Amino acid sequence: MTSRIIPIAPITRTIPLSGKVNFDGRHWIDSRGRPLRDLRISVTDRCNFRCRYCMPKEKFENNPRFLSHTEILSFEEIERLSKIFVSHGVEKIRLTGGEPLLRRGIENLIKKLSSLKTPEDKAVDIALTTNGSALTAKAEALKKAGLKRITVSLDTLDPNTYEELNDVKFPLKRTLDGIETAISVGIPSVKINVVVKRGVNDQSFIDIAKHFRGTDVIVRFIEFMDVGTSNEWRLEDVVPSRELVKVISSEFPIEPLDPNYPGEVAVRWRYLDGSGEIGFISSITEPFCSQCSRLRLSVDGKVYKCLFATEGFDLKQMLRGGASDEEIAEAVGRIWSTRDEHYSEIRTQITADGLNRNKIEMSAIGG
Ligand code: GTP
Ligand code: 5AD
Ligand code: SF4
Ligand code: SF4
Repeated sequence: MTSRIIPIAPITRTIPLSGKVNFDGRHWIDSRGRPLRDLRISVTDRCNFRCRYCMPKEKFENNPRFLSHTEILSFEEIERLSKIFVSHGVEKIRLTGGEPLLRRGIENLIKKLSSLKTPEDKAVDIALTTNGSALTAKAEALKKAGLKRITVSLDTLDPNTYEELNDVKFPLKRTLDGIETAISVGIPSVKINVVVKRGVNDQSFIDIAKHFRGTDVIVRFIEFMDVGTSNEWRLEDVVPSRELVKVISSEFPIEPLDPNYPGEVAVRWRYLDGSGEIGFISSITEPFCSQCSRLRLSVDGKVYKCLFATEGFDLKQMLRGGASDEEIAEAVGRIWSTRDEHYSEIRTQITADGLNRNKIEMSAIGG
């Protein structure tokens, strides 16, 4: 028998009411010396796809635990929190889901966030990760709202495999059309995320590199990760990035590039013949926790200190309980200051000890 209970929010911690706030005048700094620069906001826990590595059907079909409208943060609440974060050092905000384009009026939120300025009067970098299914319809509105960067998940170019992977028979062509629309309306940066899984797309991933070679679209290959508790992750299914680099470079010579910014998740490479850039995100074989500057805000207003977190801190309660901006900032500062998370560096030990039971699901914090 399969379970229908989704362990969506493992443990809710109350916000610490006392404790030191480590702020260097520009950023909150965690216990490992890492500044908070990057906020990832999930705007919905719903998705029209049922990718097996994220929302497998048997666990998510007819799921009674999808959150109601009143349980999720409103755009006003997201905007208020974003302002607080930006005034304390956040420079990048990524909107995620579930599938963020399913949230009605998402362009209105993007418009609001696009106008935010850092204390140095720089525009905040707003990006969005999508499965691409609604892009044909939405790209123009997103561009008009000021969105500069979009990342589309696309794991295969084989139409049948694509329909199998999304598990709702969503046609590949509509996603490819969506990507083309995003490019043609002029969204300046379009990236593709490819999760590589042994036996699924480890023989065909290079087709995606070939498809976008010679364009400005940057493809990033991601090692399959043990996020959440539903995706039946096994180490045998992980294809180390170094294997992919070998395959690609035997056909198209590539060389590594310097990171764009400290703590960049993807390791960048360029084709020697000048036909563009690709990247590899290797959380399993080459963890990048030591520079991790990301905090995740779930759709129901909890903050998570790590993608693999087992506990979240409830900011919604503070927001709706009448807390001032200063009180909320103080609380976030305390949460970040105690942050010691570095899961990918100690994964093997934790997995061996069987201690990673109630990790937050990817669909609640968006990767
Ligand atoms: P840029 O803003 O373009 O640099 O994007 P990004 O590198 O942050 O990439 P994106 O948000 O598209 O992340 C790509 C994928 O990398 C995510 O979907 C996750 O699968 C993985 N990823 C992102 N951040 C983390 C992280 O903090 N830890 C781990 N383990 N994986 C991450
Ligand atoms: N491992 C690696 N990447 C994943 N994603 C979703 N689940 C996993 C996983 N288990 C990716 C999606 C999308 C982004 C949000 O995270 O493909 O690009
Ligand atoms: Fe939806 Fe993205 Fe999860 Fe697939 S990986 S089920 S598209 S949220
Ligand atoms: Fe950051 Fe956690 Fe990912 Fe490490 S595993 S990079 S601490 S989110």
